[in-house]
Formats: sequence, C-alpha cells, structure tokens
Amino acid sequence: MGNFFNRDVVSIKDFSRKDLEFIFSCTDRVASLKPHEKAELGKGRTLGYIFYEPSTRTRMSFEAAMASLGGSSIGIFDSKTASVEKGESLADTIRIMDLYSDVIVLRHPLDGSSRFAAELSKHPLINAGSGGEEHPTQAMLDLYTMLKVKKRIDGLNIGIVGDLKYGRTVYSLLYGLSNYDVTIHLISPPTLSIRKESIYEAMKDLKIIEHENLDDRILSDLDIIYVTRIQKERFPDPQEYEKVKGTYTIDTSILGRAKSDVSIMHPMPRLEEISHSIDNTENAIYFKQAAYGKELRAALLALILNERLI
Ligand code: CP
Repeated sequence: MGNFFNRDVVSIKDFSRKDLEFIFSCTDRVASLKPHEKAELGKGRTLGYIFYEPSTRTRMSFEAAMASLGGSSIGIFDSKTASVEKGESLADTIRIMDLYSDVIVLRHPLDGSSRFAAELSKHPLINAGSGGEEHPTQAMLDLYTMLKVKKRIDGLNIGIVGDLKYGRTVYSLLYGLSNYDVTIHLISPPTLSIRKESIYEAMKDLKIIEHENLDDRILSDLDIIYVTRIQKERFPDPQEYEKVKGTYTIDTSILGRAKSDVSIMHPMPRLEEISHSIDNTENAIYFKQAAYGKELRAALLALILNERLI
C-alpha cells in the first residue's frame, strides 16, 4: 500500500487493490468523524480547481469535500472568464494555480493533460477528467458505491452500457475493476464499442463479454447495470451522434426483466438513457453514488494533505 501524502491522482492504474481498499476504509472513517474533527483535516489549506470542460458533480463535490475538511477552494470553472481565453497556456495556468493552492484539481479535454500538469506542479494534482482517457476519482467512487451497496465487489456480474468508446469513466472503471474477480458485460452499438488498445492491460485480468443488445439473457445475470451517456461533444461528426442517440433506455420494463436487486449506476449527467420513472426505486443508486463522491473525495483530500490522517 502506497503513501498518499502529497500524491498525485492521475490514473487509476497507479492504485493497487490494497491502495483502493485503504481509500475506501478511510472514506468510512472520515465520514464517521464529527464535523469539528473533520474540519481539522484541511484547515487553512486551499484547493485550486481548473475546469476547461463543464462539470456539476466533480467540481462541486471537491469543493464541498474541501469545505467539510475546514479548507477553502478557488478556481476556474468557465475558461471563457480566465486568461486561457487570451491565449494563456495550460502550463502557465498550472504554474499560477500552484502558487495559490495546496492541491490542484484539473479537468481538460486532452488525453495526457493531467500527467503533463502533474509533472509541472509542485503540489499534488488530481485528474478530474482528461479527454476520453480517464476520470480516476469517478472510478474510485464507483467502486466504493458498489462495495457499500453490494457489500462486495468480487463475484459481481457488471453490465456497462452505452458509449464505451468516448466515455472516460468506463476506462478508469475497467482498470479499477481489474483488481477484482468480476465478470463484465460491455453493451454498446458497434460504432461505440470499447477502444481495446486502451484497456489492453485490464483485459488480461478481466472476464469481458461484448454485446450489442441488452437482451433478457444478459439482463437476468447482472448485479449492476452501469449506464453511460452518449458523449455528443466527443463525436467528430454530429450525424453519427444522431444515429446512436437513445439506443438504450433503462426503464421500468428493463427493471421488470432484471434481477430484483439489480443496482442501476450512472456517473451522470444522465439524459434519456435512464428514465425518470425509475428514480424512486431501490434499484436506482445514481444519486447515492454522487453522494458517496463527496465522501470519497473528502477522504482522498485528507490523505493527500496530511502525513498522518487522524
Ligand atoms: N460524473 C461526472 O464527472 O460528472 P460531472 O461532469 O458533472 O462532473
């Protein structure tokens, strides 16, 4: 198990199963602290966020997590209002944020952006989404959610549905899951199937079966259906998006044909791929998942900012 003090979080591949399990147990521990105890863990520290792409959950949960630790946040969430609009480089923006903060959270549309930024920054850097490549803290909170809801990850049958080509959360999730003994069903239109070259290493450890349709035979096997949005913004050709949008919708009819305790997850934002009609069912855990995001990110920040946690 690695030391987390001052550690960058660029890729989930840099975290072993022991590392992940340590983060999950610290998440339980930090969540159970009294507010005044928790508020000591980031007291006087500043989180600097730089979001070159839109975000609701990731940015707000990091901010809320930092506030719960007694720290503060500053940042850029609309690049049009920052000097990047005047042509300032990512490198200079990182150097400046490094002067003002103790930990940096970066979302950027380019693959490799976080690794580049982490090499430049003296303070630890957390990848909050780098192109179509990775979103490691999303995968950590996804695994934590599975553990909390299903009480185990080993042995689960997990269906991952939707845009598997452009959805970066899927890549981090598959690498995270490759630490466990799970069976993965990947369900997507052929044009949005997984980029095999990007999961080459994970494929050595995972049982993966690919499908085009979410038919009853697969449905009845699944413990978790992890749904993803079709990433319109990453399509080079808008007509290609029109061909695949709305391909899958998880609704009461799908739930009726699945295991009674199947859990529906989604990194969100969700569009038409999950019907609002299932939001109030026990199966829908995507809002719980977003709530665990704040808790997990609070623990991760506490681990990064403190040589000894408590
Ligand atoms: N899951 C996720 O990254 O959501 P946001 O884009 O709202 O941050």
